[in-house]
Amino acid sequence: MTEAQRRGLNSAVTGLWTFLAPAYDLPILQRRIYRPPHDEVIAGLRSHGSRKIADIACGTGILSDRIERELHPDEIYGVDMSDGMLAQARARSNRVQWLRAPAEQLPFDDAALDAVVTTSAFHFFDQPAALREFHRVLRSGGLVAVSTLSTRQPRLQASANRWKPQHNASPAELRSLFEGAGFAISDQHRIRRSSWARIVSDVITVGAKP
Ligand SMILES: C[S@@+](CC[C@H](N)C(=O)[O-])C[C@H]1O[C@@H](n2cnc3c(N)ncnc32)[C@H](O)[C@@H]1O
Repeated sequence: MTEAQRRGLNSAVTGLWTFLAPAYDLPILQRRIYRPPHDEVIAGLRSHGSRKIADIACGTGILSDRIERELHPDEIYGVDMSDGMLAQARARSNRVQWLRAPAEQLPFDDAALDAVVTTSAFHFFDQPAALREFHRVLRSGGLVAVSTLSTRQPRLQASANRWKPQHNASPAELRSLFEGAGFAISDQHRIRRSSWARIVSDVITVGAKP
């Protein structure tokens, strides 16, 4: 994909999420769909002891805000491309630093962060470019955690990927993308979900910058 095509896709995704922002915080959606990966990311950050953290594609900022309240890091950044989502995030907290930027071009210096996390959004990214960027901004020993849609049935992969610009990577593909970007993988598993929410099939992959 060329740089111009990627910019076009990014602006289509941004428009979509600005349109959807008002419905995003519905409690049932949040509790059943988005909260399980958030819980796993918080547990991972807690055991890593991260102090400078960025939540990429933070949406309305629910996870970034929880990180700030529950872990009290030195620095917490919520980064997203959508003005609509960021407007809601800004209204939620003034203790998180909200930044407008694409995942593939982060506004941080090399090795500036202890942890980069992203939930329910990686399927929209230019995945190799975003992982290279996560690697660049992390210090050695820094944690990366990516929770993303990943079809349970390999035979459904093609139809899951029909809706562009989304790419629904398999667990093996995610491992190879992580390793290609220079990360050592420490864990990968499906997000545990209850009842009808299992229709959302997502995988969390956790790694470190050596
Ligand atoms: C389903 S929401 C997820 C929000 C949040 N991470 C959560 O778990 O609740 C997807 C978000 O990804 C953002 N997004 C999609 N592609 C992006 C990109 N390339 N760079 C930055 N943000 C992006 C959208 O603007 C939207 O806010």
